[in-house]
Amino acid sequence: MKNLLIVLVFMAMLSCGNSLTDKEKQEYTNKGKEIAQNSFKALSEKLTEQMKLGGPAQAIPFCNVEAIPITQQLSDKYEVTIKRTSDKLRNPANEPTERELEIINTYHQLISSKQAAKPIVEVDSNNKKHFYAPIMMKANCLACHGKIEEFMTVKTDSIIKSLYSNDKAIGYNEGDLRGIWSITFKK
Ligand code: HEC
Repeated sequence: MKNLLIVLVFMAMLSCGNSLTDKEKQEYTNKGKEIAQNSFKALSEKLTEQMKLGGPAQAIPFCNVEAIPITQQLSDKYEVTIKRTSDKLRNPANEPTERELEIINTYHQLISSKQAAKPIVEVDSNNKKHFYAPIMMKANCLACHGKIEEFMTVKTDSIIKSLYSNDKAIGYNEGDLRGIWSITFKK
């Protein structure tokens, strides 16, 4: 009887505290993955279209004006906050929080020890649910994020620097960790 009481008190604590059941974790992981994939699709479709129309000179100003509004529209649609952030930023508006930086470092460690960098779901002290997932560099990202004169032209770099004077988001190779998706659920 006493044991049962302890178990019940423990369960009650769990349900009021900031932790998720396995089922909830799975649900938020699935939702987060879907939102991140659709956001990536929306951004990359538009980007590819602009790259075809006029290369980096056309696509960079497009990203500059449209990247944040596109993620904002999807945030409204899914009732979440969608953010892309990095430890090497291009747009200072995407600055990571302390927790996001810790997550980025966790992914760096996992990747360098050849472990899987899977999505992370957690609850914060305000009972808000967060989804994080790595953003990796692909070959077609390097025209604007790769090494200068190897994948990225000097002209592209100068267009980027004219819009983002403090750009740190260059010098990447394919397969590098570029940053993370950080999705905060509103409910
Ligand atoms: C045509 C050039 C171009 C290409 C190609 C490109 N990006 Fe970017 N990227 C940009 C620009 C410009 C920004 C800044 C957007 C803004 O102002 O929000 C940016 C921002 C980002 C950010 C947000 C973090 C930050 O540093 O501000 C991430 C993450 C990112 N890019 C990942 C990628 C990935 C992954 C790919 C390939 C699938 C890619 N980019 C391809 C130009 C490009």
